[in-house]
Amino acid sequence: MDAATRLRYLDAMGISLWQRRGAAAQSAMQSVPAAAPEHLSPKEHDPLDSALERAIAEPAPDFPVTSPERKAQTSPVPEPAGVSGMDWAELELSVKNCRQCGLCEERKQAVFGVGVQTAGLMVIGEGPGAEEDRQGYPFVGPAGKLLDAMLAAINHSRAPRGGEQGTYIANVVKCRPPKNRDPKPEESQACRPYLERQIALVQPRLIMAVGRVAAQNLLGSDEPLGRLRTGMHAYQLPEGGQSFPVLVTYHPAYLLRSPQDKRKAWEDLKRARSLLAESR
Ligand code: URA
Repeated sequence: MDAATRLRYLDAMGISLWQRRGAAAQSAMQSVPAAAPEHLSPKEHDPLDSALERAIAEPAPDFPVTSPERKAQTSPVPEPAGVSGMDWAELELSVKNCRQCGLCEERKQAVFGVGVQTAGLMVIGEGPGAEEDRQGYPFVGPAGKLLDAMLAAINHSRAPRGGEQGTYIANVVKCRPPKNRDPKPEESQACRPYLERQIALVQPRLIMAVGRVAAQNLLGSDEPLGRLRTGMHAYQLPEGGQSFPVLVTYHPAYLLRSPQDKRKAWEDLKRARSLLAESR
């Protein structure tokens, strides 16, 4: 999608461009309440309702993790200042060798991202947990299984087969915060150029931020998740760069603890599905 089409799309959704925290005021972030889509009418039965209920009630089977081959470090670590011009291979190498914040001290490895690098849907989480730190891929623990089931219910996958659409998955911070604490502002700030470059390379038609930490970080907002998920947002790359529509939903780890909110997550997923279909 070119910039003009994206802007028309954002405009049609009533979204003003969001500016980064610290730039021209936080109040520039516009969160417009989404009109209740017709397909969420309680009377209407959507067969995917039961599909997701099944999918999220039973953990998804193991998925094949596909990602470009890991590269051994063969060149000097690029400076983060050059990140905005990197290609995928340079970016991954830079992340793997990053020492821009204290998180590098305790990580087993940095967790770059996984999935289809030209995907229409990009999922952004908070940061790696223990299992991700061990395996080197995002969302591979129990929450990852639920995330994959949620994506499958809207016909998306990090490793698409058959008619599935691709998804790219990344985190706000690429290294595991000790004891799974929230990333500190300076940590997510240090990691931000990597995420920005991933977004710029993927060119998603829709970003889905999962969980409060990812959503607040991405949008530079202090609003609670419950409020963020009812609006539609836009994420703008720095220096007046491109804008991308952002939808916010619950973190799958939260849904594992609070299954009563799965129904609301399913409504968010259906919104994502509609937005993706409309932006084709
Ligand atoms: N939670 C996240 O936010 N990201 C992961 O990669 C795993 C769990």
